[in-house]
Amino acid sequence: MKPKILQDGLLRTDIRITETGEETVETLDEVRKVYSSKGGSYEALRGVSLSIRRGGFYSLTGPSGSGKSTLLHIMGMLDSPTSGKIQYLSRQVGDLPDSSLSRLRGDEIGFVFQAYNLVQRMSVLRNVMLPMSFSTKIHAAERRERAMDLLERVGMLGKENKLVLQLSGGEQQRVAIARALANRPSLIFADEPTGNLDTENSGHVMGLLREINEDGGTIVVATHDQDIARFATKHLKLRDGSLVGDEI
Ligand SMILES: Nc1ncnc2c1ncn2[C@@H]1O[C@H](COP(=O)(O)OP(=O)(O)OP(=O)(O)O)[C@@H](O)[C@H]1O
Ligand SMILES: [Mg+2]
Repeated sequence: MKPKILQDGLLRTDIRITETGEETVETLDEVRKVYSSKGGSYEALRGVSLSIRRGGFYSLTGPSGSGKSTLLHIMGMLDSPTSGKIQYLSRQVGDLPDSSLSRLRGDEIGFVFQAYNLVQRMSVLRNVMLPMSFSTKIHAAERRERAMDLLERVGMLGKENKLVLQLSGGEQQRVAIARALANRPSLIFADEPTGNLDTENSGHVMGLLREINEDGGTIVVATHDQDIARFATKHLKLRDGSLVGDEI
């Protein structure tokens, strides 16, 4: 039987449903990460196994150096593990050739960095459109309108022609969230997204992520701040490179 194409372009045979009826998007199995340098090697992740369910809003907490960024980068396919397996829907990520991995990352993953990582001398609108030009997911004729819709959603309409360097930190992070949503990703990862923001702007950014989750987005937020972690509904906790429980 020919597999049916779902609205988001995924094959129906791609979907894995757990016994509780939740759909698993990504699974990590015994993931280890060892950083090696001249001075020796350091095991930053020591066998992490977890599943990310579609529609979940996860916090990832733990002390500085516990491996949060390392884990988030591996889950977001920005880095590869030293050993262990990563499964995205029915695909083994480690088996994918580089070109397929880049496409999967560009199409399905949105990443929000602590330091925003926007192109400073480019307009807000062009920053949000940029990921669309590296993907075929959004048709060229629809990109501008989609970027404007996203900017409206993050409260940045009217500032689309400003250069990023003219924006405040809170504004830059809202643009970074719009950019992360550009290609309708299945998974959104945010690494300390409020780390450089004051309390008010932190609240705005987390409120925005909550709205995105309520609209069906799957989100993992790394933070060392327990108040920020409380916005999430599921909690992953790291200590010395190992998961130590699922409560804050
Ligand atoms: N490129 C690298 N080379 C060597 N060691 C690294 C590298 N990146 C991270 N580490 C080490 O791995 C460990 C985990 O780092 P990671 O950045 O994942 O921690 P974190 O929980 O995100 O910390 P923070 O809260 O400070 O952001 C740390 O001990 C760090 O020094
Ligand atoms: Mg970190």
